[in-house]
Amino acid sequence: MARATITGITAAIPDYKLTNDELSQMVDTSDEWIMARIGIRERRILKENGKGSSHLGAKAVKNLLEKTGTEPLEIDLVICATVTPDYQFPATANIISHKTGIKNAFSYDLNAGCSGFLYALATAQQFIESGRLKKVVVVGSEKMSSIVDYTDRATCPIFGDAAGAVLMEPTTEETGIMDSILQSDGTGLPHLHQKAGGSVKPASHDTVDNREHFIYQEGQFVFKWAVSKMADASLDVMKNNNLTNEDIAWLIPHQANMRIIEAVARRMNLDKSKVMINIEKYGNTTAATLPVCLWEWEKRLKKGDNIILTTFGAGFTWGAMYLKWGYNGQ
Ligand code: UT7
Repeated sequence: MARATITGITAAIPDYKLTNDELSQMVDTSDEWIMARIGIRERRILKENGKGSSHLGAKAVKNLLEKTGTEPLEIDLVICATVTPDYQFPATANIISHKTGIKNAFSYDLNAGCSGFLYALATAQQFIESGRLKKVVVVGSEKMSSIVDYTDRATCPIFGDAAGAVLMEPTTEETGIMDSILQSDGTGLPHLHQKAGGSVKPASHDTVDNREHFIYQEGQFVFKWAVSKMADASLDVMKNNNLTNEDIAWLIPHQANMRIIEAVARRMNLDKSKVMINIEKYGNTTAATLPVCLWEWEKRLKKGDNIILTTFGAGFTWGAMYLKWGYNGQ
């Protein structure tokens, strides 16, 4: 059976750095509090008016095609994981495909909160392993700043904008996606959501006046679930594949909070040197955290490295994936 493997990775990071000091002038917070409780020093913001998630996604995908020497017309499918689509419809993936000259593909968005990229990798894997498709682009792209309430100190320090994209192709080697555990539980709804703008509560003067088009999060509740579900899923996928902590080259956890990342690594008995962490620079970029980590660490990745990716997000959604890296990053 052919496996689905990642053959290239890129990211698009906006230039503007929103620092803790600047945030401290907007809401009652401080660099000390944010560093101690979340571990974020700055996050990137896509400032230009009229540019949405597809702007970053298309930039990442264009670079991906160039970097991997792939013609746009060779791509069979584009999946865009996002909670901040350009529009309610059409899908941001359609727009990214158009902007990058991908014309022979079908494309759609996937919304699984912060687990979107993981779910999208697992979805792409099915098309490739079945032999149906040969080249699939998975892109996680977010303009979180478009749904962050910059008067709410409980949420505004957390999120940032970014995109990351991977090319997935079949391989007959023992590399690629080996296994995954994906789960969701809709009882998470009251604890993490956007109140208005969907079909339950369409946009109105009231919803705007009541600031209901922003992220609503009960942080402490989400925190506890995030630690236990990411650790459980990671340990389960390791157990199912007879992996011990010594077999793991890298853990790539969703970057939501430094304390969550450290707690998950502790429960997995993994040294911090094996954990990809860049939350300090980018904050929580939702569906983009995993590919942005992979992109930043690409040079240090070696063929055959055992990697565990794990996420937790709105839904709730969570999961863990065992990936054997397919090429030497250098
Ligand atoms: O990616 C999707 C999944 N999301 C997550 O995984 C996020 C999970 N949750 C978290 O990361 C954390 O719960 C937060 C970062 C959201 C909040 O941290 P916390 O340590 O849980 O703080 P808290 O909400 O319990 O608030 C503690 C105190 C409160 O003051 P009192 O009531 O104790 O006087 C807050 O009002 O900290 C206060 N506070 C702040 N103080 C300064 C909350 N936000 C701030 C702030 N600056 N920005």
